[in-house]
Amino acid sequence: MSATKRVRVPDLLEKKRAGEKITMLTAYDYTMARLVDEAGIDSILVGDSLGNVMLGYSTTLPVTLDDMIHHAKAVRRGTERALLVVDMPFLTYEVSPEKALENAGRIMREAEVDAVKLEGGAEMAPVVKRMTETGIPVIGHLGMTPQSVHVFGGYRVQGRGAEAAERLIEDALSLQEAGAFAVVLEMVPASLARRVTETLTIPTIGIGAGPDCDGQVLVLQDMLGMYEDLQPRFVKQYANLGEVIRKAVGSYIEEVKSGVFPSEQHTYGD
Ligand code: KIV
Repeated sequence: MSATKRVRVPDLLEKKRAGEKITMLTAYDYTMARLVDEAGIDSILVGDSLGNVMLGYSTTLPVTLDDMIHHAKAVRRGTERALLVVDMPFLTYEVSPEKALENAGRIMREAEVDAVKLEGGAEMAPVVKRMTETGIPVIGHLGMTPQSVHVFGGYRVQGRGAEAAERLIEDALSLQEAGAFAVVLEMVPASLARRVTETLTIPTIGIGAGPDCDGQVLVLQDMLGMYEDLQPRFVKQYANLGEVIRKAVGSYIEEVKSGVFPSEQHTYGD
């Protein structure tokens, strides 16, 4: 049995109460999950952004429940401490609360994760209620919700203007009322994210939502400089692993071609 104290759902609520920031990053495989977990992150999200980052789709819409479960199982094996959350992919929760419950149940049972996340506001409240009443912790996701990218006409800031801002606050309150234990706010003005954060008793986790959310989340490959197809303004690059990888692979190619590798050190004798 490990001595590591696992982060649980109530710990995030406690962090908000204590004014302590919550840290979250995505991961989609065992190796990365292990590194991120060992670094001390509070929560790991198996985001459906894996459709872009891992599978090379241009949106998250083609991602299936089986894709999510496959990656979540690998991340579970690499995660000892962090609270593990998995995205419900497009059309696995919108059709009916019963269908949503069945699909969330599959994620929880098969990947043994701690919580699920889904996109949408007040219209998703019955789904969130059904799940939380059944014992499945849920995180909501508002603002620029990538599964609705075609409705928005691209990846654009949401919640600008008084009416849109009020609607987003109402949506956040509906999710809280339905039992969600946190809400991700993506690409919304910082002033609106602050209002939502002050209004809710549950934590907000921002991505492109300014500094006043209760926590922050980024896509791991974005902040490590490994995924270069989309480069949103809200991403801070903490490393340039894309360049490190290209250089390392280039050196390997050169050394194999020139016969420098494998040397005696990397070769077995009789
Ligand atoms: O899919 C994802 O990675 C997400 C985060 C960007 C919040 O939903």
